[in-house]
Formats: sequence, structure tokens, C-alpha cells
Amino acid sequence: MINNQIQFLLNDQLTTLSDIDPNTTILQYLRQHQHKSGTKEGCASGDCGACTVVIAEAVAGKLRYKSLNACISLLPSLHGKQLITVEDLEDGDRLHPVQQAMVDFHGSQCGFCTPGFIMSLFALHKNFPDPSKHQTLEALAGNLCRCTGYRAIVDAAAAAKNHGADQFDRNVAHTIATLNSIARDTMAQLSLNKELNDGAQQAFSPLSLSQLSQIMLDNPQARLVAGGTDIVLEITQMHKKLGTIVYVGNVPELQKFEEHDDKFVIGAALPYSEFTPHLAVHYPEFGDMIERIGSLQIRNQGTLGGNVGNASPIGDTPPVLIALDAKLNLRCDDKVRQIAIEDYFVDYKVTSQQTSEFIESIEIPKPVSKAQQLKVYKISKRFDDDISAVLATFNLTIENDVITKARVAFGGMAGIPARAANCEQALNGQPFTQATIDAAKAQLASDYTPMSDVRASKDYRMTVAQNLLQKAFIEISQPQTNTGVVQYA
Ligand SMILES: Cc1cc2nc3c(=O)[nH]c(=O)nc-3n(C[C@H](O)[C@H](O)[C@H](O)COP(=O)(O)OP(=O)(O)OC[C@H]3O[C@@H](n4cnc5c(N)ncnc54)[C@H](O)[C@@H]3O)c2cc1C
Ligand code: FES
Ligand code: FES
Repeated sequence: MINNQIQFLLNDQLTTLSDIDPNTTILQYLRQHQHKSGTKEGCASGDCGACTVVIAEAVAGKLRYKSLNACISLLPSLHGKQLITVEDLEDGDRLHPVQQAMVDFHGSQCGFCTPGFIMSLFALHKNFPDPSKHQTLEALAGNLCRCTGYRAIVDAAAAAKNHGADQFDRNVAHTIATLNSIARDTMAQLSLNKELNDGAQQAFSPLSLSQLSQIMLDNPQARLVAGGTDIVLEITQMHKKLGTIVYVGNVPELQKFEEHDDKFVIGAALPYSEFTPHLAVHYPEFGDMIERIGSLQIRNQGTLGGNVGNASPIGDTPPVLIALDAKLNLRCDDKVRQIAIEDYFVDYKVTSQQTSEFIESIEIPKPVSKAQQLKVYKISKRFDDDISAVLATFNLTIENDVITKARVAFGGMAGIPARAANCEQALNGQPFTQATIDAAKAQLASDYTPMSDVRASKDYRMTVAQNLLQKAFIEISQPQTNTGVVQYA
């Protein structure tokens, strides 16, 4: 049985949509259908934060609040959630604590950015009532101000803690009960899927792995949407229609995070912000690098499955996953095949994924010994919210001053994220010395023929790649020099 509708809370109003193009973004819905113009459109590409809204999800008897970019989020992803916009924050005639703090600390600047700032602060306030400076800066990094600065806004974030409970706290029991009733009703009504159908545009939102598998068998041309932070740009920037969409964010098996003795298993549709802290315990530099993928809004939506499935040569996680010898579990129907992640990338934007197949999960081995060193470097023009020019990963095991195992992979150096086989050969079994590093640096020129584009010239890319190997050598041999992953092009 198919339920041709989605249901969500628009603030405190239970809202049902059945006859609407599923290519509609949340921003278009708010501004054009609901005539709520408080949420602004700056870039329509997830960069500026003017469109920031907050989503609340009921998880284990609590509400989990997340900021996200309404301009690149599609309506089908709202099912079963609460959507909160800047219009909803006022409580009767009282400003919300974060709004009041913005007034008190003169943080309200231009009318385009301020609603987005307010919503990022609101999510911060709900998650961290007494936020640290780091948490505040992380929350605001996806809201770009070009006029004045951030000082007053950062001060407002710290002050909002003094203002006590808000209407969302008072309504929490009712909100959770309503959200749970949506999920239960829908599950009860649906034996196959939820579907939105608008002529040629349709969206499926399967609720289980078997439903997703069946939909992909029946609709081999369908486009998978996880966080949508890559694919929705086809709608907003290229003005395309996506045709049949399969939203995978409601499939529990794709949302899992498992920690085993020897590996992590991460569901393909689990957003970065939910698994990064766990991964960072074992791979701090990988965690630091993920914190530089887009902004918090992007990491609240974006997923590993989407980063890998997008098959971009400048996606940030594939080089790290390749250097760590991660595996992909690819499912078609009831069959799962496991491949080394490096075998997924065949040519520019061409993968070995077969018709009706999808990534179910990613397996990342844990470090095997203290002798293993993982160095990850992201080179981009801006620290936050920017795409890499080059991403380097060196996974080196050094025992008794000899490199007993080397896996090296780069992004931005070829049409696909790829291993540096000749460089690895020059490192493997060799003493960990400057002479070995010099030989390995020279081999990078035979591993890659980078191209020039808006982000960097081919000469710059090669030079920086070689210098990053040098940097890894210095940081490993003289740990006190380690400056982390802070890199600018
Ligand atoms: C402002 C902004 C900043 C960004 N910054 C960065 C950055 O710093 N570094 C970076 O690497 N990326 C960046 N991105 C790109 C994007 O956020 C990431 O690639 C993200 O991981 C994509 O995940 P998603 O879930 O949103 O993918 P989606 O957009 O949902 O999907 C991307 C592609 O993967 C496919 N796909 C999704 N799920 C699966 C699956 N389970 N199996 C097979 N295929 C699947 C989709 O069909 C689509 O082709 C940025 C994007 C924006 C808008
Ligand atoms: S409008 Fe700029 S991030 Fe959405
Ligand atoms: S607040 Fe809008 S540009 Fe500064």
C-alpha cells in the first residue's frame, strides 16, 4: 500500500502535503507556498546560510535539533520532523532568548543574513545551553557576513544562556508525541513506501532496506538523495528536474553506526555530524578534516554515502578512506558485495556501481597499532566552507625507524581520488629518513598529472602535494611541530 503524502510539523501545526512537486526545496515551500519570507535566499547553493532553518527530530524520547540549509533540502526529507523557522521563535510578544541577546549585544546586522544567524544560534542554544567558543564558531561558520563581522554575534551566543526556557521546552512532550504519531501512522499505513507523485516527478521515501532495494529494482533510473547537498544543486544551480527521487534518510539500516573491535561500520545515509565524534577518537586528523567539510548545516545533512556516491575528484573523504583501505558494501536486491573503496572510482564521475545497486555502508578499519600514523591535509582557499584544491592522506606504519606499510592517496590530483602507487613503493620497507622522503616526493610526479582549474594550477597542485609529504615527515619525526590540519592555499 502506498501513502501519497508527507506529514510534518510546521512549527506546531501538523501539515500534510500530497500534491506538490517533490523537487520543491524547503526554501521554495516556505517562501512561495507558505508566504513566510523570513527565511532568505542568498546563494541557493548551501554556501551563505541566509536560508538556515532548524529541524527537530524525536530520538529516544528527546528532541534533537539541527540547523540546515533550506535552499538545498527537498520537501520529502521533512516527513516525520518538525520544521522551525525564524517566524516561529517569538513567544507571544517576547523575543526568543537568542533574538533578545542579538538585540542586547548589537548583533543584528543586515536583513539578509540575520535570520540565518538567528536560526544557527537557536540550534546552538538548544543543543548547548552554555556553548564553548569552539561550539559557537562551529555553529556560525556556515553563516557568511560580508558587512561587519562576527564579534557581536559571538557575544550574543554566549549571553543567550541567561534567558531560561523557551516555548519549545514547554511543548516538548506534545511535539514528541505528535512526531511519533506521524511515524507510527505512516509505518502502519505503508507496506511498500511513501510516495509523492506529481506527473513525471515522483519521490519515494522507503522505510526499510528491502523497500529501498525493491524501489531500485523497479526504478533503475531513480536518483538517490541522502543529504542532498550535492544532488540538489542540480535543481537550484542547473535548473534541472531530478525525475524519480529516492530519499534514503528514513532507511534505518543506512543510518546505523557500529563500532567493532577492528572496524567502524557507517550507514551510507548517516550525516557527518552524527558519527564524526566517534571516528575522531581513533582518527583525530580525519575528524578534524570532516569538521572542515562545508559548514555545520552541510554536515548535519551530508553523508559519507553521498560523498563517495558523488564520485567527485575533490570529494574530501574518498582519499582518506582509500588510504585507510576502507570497504564499501554495495547492495542490489538481497545481494551484498564488498569492494575496496579504491575500486569504486573508475573514471571521472564513473563508478563500478551497477544498475539498481546502492551503497549500504562503509567499513573503516581501526588502527592496528600505535606505530600507525594517519596524516590528513586539506588545502583550500578558505578554512571553513570551502572545497579542496588538494587533499592528501598518508597512512604510514613506522617500526624501528623503518616504514613497514605505506598507503598514500590524494584528491584533486587526477580525475578520480587515487592512490599514489609509485610514491608508496618508494616508501615501503625503507628507512624513515629525508632521503626516502625525497625519493617518494619525486615519485608523485609519475603518479599524477594534475590539471589547472579555478582552485589551483597543475604546478601548484604538484608542488603542494610534494610539500605535504615533507610536512608529514616533519610532523611524525618531530611531533612537537604538529600544527594539525589547518591549511590555506
Ligand atoms: C556549501 C557546500 C559545501 C561543501 N563542502 C564540501 C567539502 O568541503 N568537502 C566535500 O567533500 N564536499 C563538500 N560538499 C559536497 C557535499 O556536501 C558532500 O559531498 C556530501 O558528503 C554529500 O552527501 P549528501 O548525503 O548530501 O549527498 P547527496 O547530494 O544526497 O548525493 C550525492 C550523490 O551520491 C549519490 N548517493 C547518495 N546516497 C547514495 C548511496 N547510498 N549509494 C549510492 N549513491 C548515493 C546521489 O545519487 C548523488 O549522485 C559541499 C557542498 C555544499 C553545498
Ligand atoms: S541561500 Fe545561501 S545557503 Fe541557502
Ligand atoms: S550581516 Fe549581512 S552581510 Fe553582514
